[in-house]
Amino acid sequence: MKVVSIVGARPQFVKLAPLSAAMTAAGHEHHIVHTGQHYDAALSDVFFSGLDIPDPDTHLGVGSGSHGAQTGGVLAALDPVLEKERPDWVLVYGDTNSTLAGALSAVKQHLPVAHLEAGLRSFNRRMPEEHNRVLTDHASDLLLAPTEEALRHLRNEGLEHRAALAGDVMVDVCLRVADRARADGLPAAGLPEGVDPGAPYLLATVHRAENTDDPARLSALADALAELPVPVALLAHPRLLARAEEHGVKLARGAVRVGRPLPYADLVAAALGASGVVTDSGGLQKEAYLLGRPCTTLRPETEWPETLADGWNTLVPSPWELGTAAWVRLAARRAPRTPRGEPYGDGRAAERAVRLLEEHHRPERPLGAGR
Ligand code: UD1
Repeated sequence: MKVVSIVGARPQFVKLAPLSAAMTAAGHEHHIVHTGQHYDAALSDVFFSGLDIPDPDTHLGVGSGSHGAQTGGVLAALDPVLEKERPDWVLVYGDTNSTLAGALSAVKQHLPVAHLEAGLRSFNRRMPEEHNRVLTDHASDLLLAPTEEALRHLRNEGLEHRAALAGDVMVDVCLRVADRARADGLPAAGLPEGVDPGAPYLLATVHRAENTDDPARLSALADALAELPVPVALLAHPRLLARAEEHGVKLARGAVRVGRPLPYADLVAAALGASGVVTDSGGLQKEAYLLGRPCTTLRPETEWPETLADGWNTLVPSPWELGTAAWVRLAARRAPRTPRGEPYGDGRAAERAVRLLEEHHRPERPLGAGR
């Protein structure tokens, strides 16, 4: 079986790691296309080298741009690649512009598409990712759902016949990397200057357009982070730095120490060393849950509602509306005592995803005939 994986942004490289290993173990031909949506070494190369992912076979070099320009750029650049490779499956990951473009290019060439992380919904139609994931699910032939909840959403949209529960491949990689970090027993590396890895600190990231692009909101968020009672290691995505500079918002003040995004193993070690996490990232919410750290999410909704059980994760769209004391109490809270379940699977999702691709691969079936 020949599979083309299309990835472009940081969380997709993380998910590609276990998929690529499972594909190789099963003896399949795997062609990796990097769209170039993320191009900074800290958002791209370090994930390939740090997670032992083979170098991409094709790099489209599309780069940043408006949603239309970026999605269209990937779509146009992919056509000749897929036409040449003619894989048995095109595999797209998550909810980015690269994902939507990958799915569109494939369906227009009558190539079967599988969507990894299918069925997630925020029901917030102002998020570009919500449109990307809904459109990709409806275009795809095989929907690899990470959770029961995702499967339920697909059922509600009439997509059950194309959906299967695979589990979450992020668990595979997160648990493996965390085991290694615990075994090494080293303090977290790469934290911003001024954060002592041996003393209490909070780990923070902010990158979503909803939080970065409105100057008043960004400024209020920066104020809220600055008030926290322990150092805040803010690992700043380039988008956050660019918008803060543009809007004249100073990030490094009060408790906040600004650093660069970390390679995956360092990020996991930093989360393990932290007393809690404050973020708007979907991936980091889940990593905090898997690693047993309380998370405060700077959004009104989450695609990962399982993390909300027993207060492991709490949604706080506008911290300043809580008042300082309540906000500080919440974000700096201790981890709940209640045990966490395994809503994201057992760490063998990539193997299962590859098996599902094998089972649903029908070479004898005319392409485009549906399944
Ligand atoms: C994208 C995904 C989002 C995902 C995130 C992970 C979409 C719509 N959004 O958001 O779902 O959670 O990736 O990080 O696809 N930039 C750089 N260097 C880079 C890449 C980006 O400086 O290597 C800057 C550019 O100013 C760019 C901005 O960051 O315009 C935003 O990048 P983009 O890829 O459009 O979206 P993300 O915010 O990273």
